[in-house]
Amino acid sequence: MKNLIPFLALLVIAGCSSGGDTNTTSGTPSTSTESKDKPLVVFSQANSQDPWRKVFDASTKAEADKHVSEFTYETQDASGKSETQNNMIDTFLIKNPKVMLVSPNDLSVTKAVEKAFDKGVSVILLDRDIEGEKYSYYIGGDNTEIGRQAGKFVGEKLGGKGVVLMIQGIANVTATQNRRDGFLESLKAFPGIKVILGDDCGFQRQKARAYMESFLQKNEPVDCVYGHNDEMAIGARLAWDAARPTGKAPMFVGVDGCQKEVVEMIKSGKMDATFQYPTPGAMGIQVAADLLKGNKPKDRRIILPTVLVDKNSADKYLADNPNLAN
Ligand code: FRU
Repeated sequence: MKNLIPFLALLVIAGCSSGGDTNTTSGTPSTSTESKDKPLVVFSQANSQDPWRKVFDASTKAEADKHVSEFTYETQDASGKSETQNNMIDTFLIKNPKVMLVSPNDLSVTKAVEKAFDKGVSVILLDRDIEGEKYSYYIGGDNTEIGRQAGKFVGEKLGGKGVVLMIQGIANVTATQNRRDGFLESLKAFPGIKVILGDDCGFQRQKARAYMESFLQKNEPVDCVYGHNDEMAIGARLAWDAARPTGKAPMFVGVDGCQKEVVEMIKSGKMDATFQYPTPGAMGIQVAADLLKGNKPKDRRIILPTVLVDKNSADKYLADNPNLAN
């Protein structure tokens, strides 16, 4: 059905043109043949639900639209289910894609990705890694470095003393593991800070909010909440506001920096910082386009930089990033 759309569009255009129009295609349905002959680039997205993934999907599609004459682009999301992603990758393989972009739901999609790689497909991992080395390229932030920078920021702001509650992302995901390990590494320089390794809240606001609600019922001291993404840091802050509206709030620190909401919370003092985690999809499409022309990127791992957003840099960040999600 999808392949028919360009053909139908062509018919409509042809139908509207006057006889002498030199732009009119000469009648043969070449568009559908061309689209069959064009190489296929597919993108298997882990989920398309949360704000960061929505920005990610939109920028990937916008970039793919610039390359319609070069390749056919297809994308699907796995709704946060690894089993769905494994099946999706298998189904994509039947269509013989030349390039496959994958943002793995977690490490358990390793085998499916390896199968694509072994078939000779150029596999570009986006944001999350798999186990081992059977992929062609990785594009994403350096999550260990983000964790380190977050740890240094928190350690210094707390003056080397206090309790940090770390609300964790999906356990079996490299972004979670690296954001945790980098943070703990930096905190070695601050032995007066105790870290409570909180639950896996799935990178989700509501789960983190519920977790924070039950944490607060224990009445334990907490000086900082570090969420492995902004959605969870926001959820924790909302739980705090509901439970202790007048108490002295701990610090709240997150990762992603893709939403205006977060920057506004930083400006108003409801959050203390976030670390930008640039979405890798547009670059993924550019690399796919280059590979199809026979140009290989010089680095196998393309690392996108992070930026600290705190009260001092929030206005500049908003000005530099006018297209943040609402
Ligand atoms: C979205 C997300 C982001 C996070 C990334 C980590 O699904 O949770 O918030 O930065 O995935 O892989």
